[in-house]
Amino acid sequence: NLGVINIPVNVIIVAPNSSSVSSQQVNSQIATLNADFRNTNVNQLPSGTTFANDATDAGFSFTLANVTRFDDSRTSWGTNNAVKSAYPSDPATRDTHLTMWVCPIGGGILGYAQFPGGNASTDGVVVDPAYFGNTSGPFGLGRTMTHEVGHWLNLRHIWGDGRCRQDDFVADTPSSDGPNYGCPSYPTVNCKSADMTMNYMDYVNDACMYMFTDGQRNRMRAIFAPGGPRASYVG
Ligand code: ARG
Ligand code: ZN
Ligand code: CA
Repeated sequence: NLGVINIPVNVIIVAPNSSSVSSQQVNSQIATLNADFRNTNVNQLPSGTTFANDATDAGFSFTLANVTRFDDSRTSWGTNNAVKSAYPSDPATRDTHLTMWVCPIGGGILGYAQFPGGNASTDGVVVDPAYFGNTSGPFGLGRTMTHEVGHWLNLRHIWGDGRCRQDDFVADTPSSDGPNYGCPSYPTVNCKSADMTMNYMDYVNDACMYMFTDGQRNRMRAIFAPGGPRASYVG
């Protein structure tokens, strides 16, 4: 009923040399989000697996609104929202635009996100420049942002951040008891069923994650319904 939901994006780049995060890097990140959330990415599901037919078009598109750059010598901002108070999002567009802060985080953290319904001044996602857009290495395909935007759209990790009986509140993602890493072979069995390791909300390498499910699509889109925490984006 809502059709494809478009999310305008403001990018705030904070780095010792902020111009080193190029506009090509920004554009590749937006392109990856559009491919992943419309399921037009290269489909790498091995044929014959339980999950081969479960990849869905989540029905979100992303358009770049503003990019702002700030040179700041700080090299590890941590995960406590410090960058958001130092370089605030635009108060005029907080209810209509997704803010992405791109800054060095440190501590081996790739990114972090705020779930819907939180404080407007800290709403958005944060990703380290090394994992923002097309870079290099196992996390060089821009899927950290896909994962973080999944959180921003109300998705939990597929293992529910608990043991086998802790739910992610999505019926069509099988239960698991913890994250998977690297590029797991199929089937990787935990909690007596094959894990959907290739889901964007696991912790595997970028090249090995490539799907959302119908259940995740419904959970993400529900927050845009009238009265929902992101209804202002479609108003
Ligand atoms: N650890 C981060 C989080 O839980 C991001 C993980 C990103 N994984 C990836 N393959 N890019 O939000
Ligand atoms: Zn996560
Ligand atoms: Ca589930």
